[in-house]
Amino acid sequence: MKKIPEYCVTNEADYLNRRTFIKKSVGLGVGLAAFGSLPSLAEGVQGGGLFDKIVATDYGKGLVPHTYKEISNYNNFYEFGTGKRDPAKNAHTLKPAPWHIEVSGECVKRGVYDLEDFIAPYQLQERIYRFRCVEAWSMVIPWVGVSLASVLKTFQPTSKAKYVVFKTLLDKTQMPWQKRPTLDWPYTEGLTIAEAMNPLSFLAVGLYGKTLPNQNGAPLRLVVPWKYGFKNIKSIVSIHFQETAPINTWQDQAASEYGFYANVNPNVDHPRWSQARERVIGRGSFFSPEKRKTEMFNGYGDEVAHLYTGLDLTKNF
Ligand code: MTE
Repeated sequence: MKKIPEYCVTNEADYLNRRTFIKKSVGLGVGLAAFGSLPSLAEGVQGGGLFDKIVATDYGKGLVPHTYKEISNYNNFYEFGTGKRDPAKNAHTLKPAPWHIEVSGECVKRGVYDLEDFIAPYQLQERIYRFRCVEAWSMVIPWVGVSLASVLKTFQPTSKAKYVVFKTLLDKTQMPWQKRPTLDWPYTEGLTIAEAMNPLSFLAVGLYGKTLPNQNGAPLRLVVPWKYGFKNIKSIVSIHFQETAPINTWQDQAASEYGFYANVNPNVDHPRWSQARERVIGRGSFFSPEKRKTEMFNGYGDEVAHLYTGLDLTKNF
């Protein structure tokens, strides 16, 4: 297994203490608080840059995050293999810098942007979100990133922009499993414009106050915590506004099992397993894993239920 670099093992206790400090600073009206020498997107491990200033938020208050090790060693990233440990072993071939994102379609400001420039205008925030995979396991993850809505507004979507489509890098050298026909590459995902503009929608560039590990979707991934994990597309290179609904990768793969909406819903089972409960990664024992009841919209109903008023969620799963 690939060794986790030293900077990644700064333990969670230290990290969480630092986070408490940051919260207090914000509470005292300091506004922004420096994390110290955390990596910048361009510089990797050392030095200043964007990661110098991350603002704590109330998202996830009271939730206990999983460890860095758990979050970065149990992954789904089929561009690096289909096993849960494959991405941590194999994703070292991905080069997250330099990185470019193309913005296209129904918007005024189209173009290709360097990731640094793309992210620079926005305040980096930390948000602790629940994460629920369609395979019925879950984690709690302290993401670092920016509000998706603030980013999208910058490009001035037109009135025809009803959907936003995201694509992952297509590069067989950096993502060797793309040589295999496991999925129809590049991995593609989409949201309605209302979902994309919801305050919960997030573009993550880091976790635990550091740049994203490659296996978690470096350098830029989507985080939509009320939806199943497969909506959270990794290593994004393209954002496209369009009028018609896209077909996302897993819908394309098996439309009877994976829909466009993919809202976490304990009342609509996957055709092959129940969605009523979830196994909490790393809790309990192998023979008796800890399970918890799955919550509607993964517990984010107050923020997102209104998006689906009048929609039959048994059909629009
Ligand atoms: N994005 C890409 N490009 N490729 C993938 O295989 N897997 C999805 C999603 N994003 C995937 C992806 C699935 S099925 C899940 S559950 C989450 O990423 C897993 O995210 P994590 O590995 O950070 O927990």
